[in-house]
Amino acid sequence: MSIPHIPLNDATTIPQLGLGVWQVPDDVATSAVLTALEAGYRGIDTAAAYNNESGTGKAIAESSVPRDEIHVTTKVWNTDHGYDSALRAFDASLSRLGLDYVDLYLIHWPVAGRDAYVDTWRALEKIKADGRARSIGVSNFHIPHLRRLFDETDIIPSVNQIELHPNLPQDELRAFHAEHGIATEAWSPLASGELLGDATIGELAGKHGKSAAQVILRWHLQLGNIVIPKSVTPERIRANIDVFDFELDQADLDALAGLATGRRTGPHPDQFGG
Ligand SMILES: NC(=O)c1ccc[n+]([C@@H]2O[C@H](COP(=O)([O-])OP(=O)(O)OC[C@H]3O[C@@H](n4cnc5c(N)ncnc54)[C@H](OP(=O)(O)O)[C@@H]3O)[C@@H](O)[C@H]2O)c1
Repeated sequence: MSIPHIPLNDATTIPQLGLGVWQVPDDVATSAVLTALEAGYRGIDTAAAYNNESGTGKAIAESSVPRDEIHVTTKVWNTDHGYDSALRAFDASLSRLGLDYVDLYLIHWPVAGRDAYVDTWRALEKIKADGRARSIGVSNFHIPHLRRLFDETDIIPSVNQIELHPNLPQDELRAFHAEHGIATEAWSPLASGELLGDATIGELAGKHGKSAAQVILRWHLQLGNIVIPKSVTPERIRANIDVFDFELDQADLDALAGLATGRRTGPHPDQFGG
């Protein structure tokens, strides 16, 4: 199974589908990441706040897949905003991961009320300049946060990782990203599993002989999203990349567009993080 890579605005690439490890205990992260790498995944999404960078790094070290074929993302947490704090947080993440660089380093949330994301971004620019993160990006940023980075800093983020699934397709933000060369990465792509029992998705799964999860992941891929489904279940980890042998047609996409209720599973970025 070979997963396509998509180009980023800094001449690097990222696998379009990777494994997310939020809410996965450190030791379970090791086995999930090993299973994923063996199945053909080449992208892993962790964060300092997930408390499993060590377990993730252990899997990368133990895997027979060479380091330079694995795309590793981690993120700076809300309490580490600010230039010096973010540099220190990055050192700690790298050390827990047991790596000498990451492929993508993200600001996890803008924490707009604290107003330190611009200085935090300058730290990420320094980390990239030093070659310790190949790419830098943000997560949970909205258009005003992105515009502020454009106005006050030097580098346009390569990626914005946002909550995105059929209930919350984020059309406006995706169009803004496309206009500015920012790749859209979808977190909670299955709405944390909450969309798997949806009747419309169930019908499409029957039509294509695929599971509900596979239909949703295919929808993301056809939209051009980078997608990072989480699972600790080996069969599901394997099934979630078996999505490159079928295609949703326009009627399917129209039916899925009808699920856009605006419902979030996570917090609103303007209100989260103090
Ligand atoms: N940047 C951010 O602020 C942010 C926030 C949230 C998430 N994320 C990232 O996005 C990743 C994914 O989001 P998520 O963890 O919220 O949820 P998700 O990927 O939308 O859904 C995961 C849930 O669906 C289940 N599942 C996965 N594949 C399945 C399948 N084929 N059939 C049936 N059930 C399946 C999983 O169960 P099992 O594990 O039990 O198999 C788990 O309960 C996270 O791990 C993290 O890397 C980022």
